[in-house]
Amino acid sequence: MIDPQASPTVKFFSGEQIPLELHKVRIVQKLNLIPIEERLKAIVEGGFNTFLLTTKTVFLDMLTDSGTNAMSDNQVASMLRADDAYAGSQSYMRLEEVIQDVFNSKYYLPVHQGRAAENIISKVFIKPGDVVPMNYHFTTTKAHIELNGGTIFEIYTDEALKVKSSHPFKGNMDIKKLKDIIAKYGAGKVAYIRLEASTNLIGGQPFSIANMREVRKVADEHGIMIVLDASLIGENAYFVKQREDEFKRKSIKEILHTMLGLADLTYFSSRKVSSTRGGGMCTNSEKIYKQLKDLVPLFEGFYTYGGMSIREVEAMAIGLVETLDETIISQSPAFIKYMVDELDKRGVPVVTPAGGLGVHIDAGQFLSHVPQKEYPAGCLAAAFFLISGVRGMERGTISSVRDANGNDVLADIELLRLAMPRRVFTLSQVKYAIDRLHWLYQNRNLVGGLKFYEEPPVLRFFGGKLEPTTPWPEKLVAKFRADFGDSL
Ligand code: F0G
Repeated sequence: MIDPQASPTVKFFSGEQIPLELHKVRIVQKLNLIPIEERLKAIVEGGFNTFLLTTKTVFLDMLTDSGTNAMSDNQVASMLRADDAYAGSQSYMRLEEVIQDVFNSKYYLPVHQGRAAENIISKVFIKPGDVVPMNYHFTTTKAHIELNGGTIFEIYTDEALKVKSSHPFKGNMDIKKLKDIIAKYGAGKVAYIRLEASTNLIGGQPFSIANMREVRKVADEHGIMIVLDASLIGENAYFVKQREDEFKRKSIKEILHTMLGLADLTYFSSRKVSSTRGGGMCTNSEKIYKQLKDLVPLFEGFYTYGGMSIREVEAMAIGLVETLDETIISQSPAFIKYMVDELDKRGVPVVTPAGGLGVHIDAGQFLSHVPQKEYPAGCLAAAFFLISGVRGMERGTISSVRDANGNDVLADIELLRLAMPRRVFTLSQVKYAIDRLHWLYQNRNLVGGLKFYEEPPVLRFFGGKLEPTTPWPEKLVAKFRADFGDSL
């Protein structure tokens, strides 16, 4: 049986099924696959933090899908007709029209990227002592809410943090927990309820529209606003169509309209959703629009560019229209599913079911001998780069914070995220990543812990530097050479 979730899947005469690329590559970028000894130098210099590597040393950049999805020919072409006017640009008018059509939103405010929207929304709606319930946090979201004196509550369902699961909607919000928070703090203290589409930090997992409708019901009972983070809404809409019976025959546009219609305010990072850069906030409420509007020229730029280059504004309009094309939005979920299934077959602990955004490896299980306070997800990210040149991102305790006493707040789950930017990698490159991760799993006992020697107080995962607690990297290099000879 062909799995509809891996669309478009073709079956070979041999019986093998693969997610076929329904695009051709017309602009290419050279990659470097350097010897492991040089990668060892690079990771030491980068403080065992994959954010601090330069792309000269990286083979497959699976750090993020943010700003790294491939653009289409039509997107690139659109950038040539950009109307660079500071105010009243026609490029902006075209984008505004697309937002009205694709998102069914009357008002749109541009910002330079997703976190800029988070800054403005937090400044406007969060007062000290407020709480914000959400299905799960994203790093920059949490930082902005806390900076304005708010506290976040993650009210995911019991299924959300189970690594191995077949639950179709692990991004759902737990309605009982939502009601409990409102009862405990009072509706007046709940600044808004935040729902994140394709919940990033728990493995790119979607929520269902049925769940969103329940959240809406509770919000209406208490007069609370819903804010939707739509950075990965295309993938969430695709999963709704695949997994939620009511929407099997609906178009992606109808699904998007339904989702945005259930929110009061939507914001997004265009670095993800439209394969460009930039971002935005949109709403059908004139009141909300007016509350946010004044801060756009203050922090971002004039209302008709919001800190974005006008070329990006043009490409964003095309990218948002392309979000309606299932062939395009299913490409990264199909490759992710292929990689997840292959890793699962080899016994590598990987988050299931496959979500959007990337492949998430459970570093807690993979490196069960590394104590959580020595950052297993960070160790796995560094070790995987070392032996393969594939750069992933730590999404565990290093991405967390310290408490008032200076102790690490241990993450709920230690993940290595291997992002799958849309239409960027070929299947043979994905096979290489699977093979090297399989090898690392077989040799996992050689990987040891890490400790900080330079630690920024805010968002430490970006710039922090660490060192190994034992000389494990050298041992890993020796074993690689013993097994692979002089292969790259
Ligand atoms: N919300 C979500 C769900 C995100 O994934 C991101 C960014 C943001 C907000 C912030 O947007 O980067 O444009 O300022 N995620 C990137 C990632 C950084 O790698 O997952 P931004």
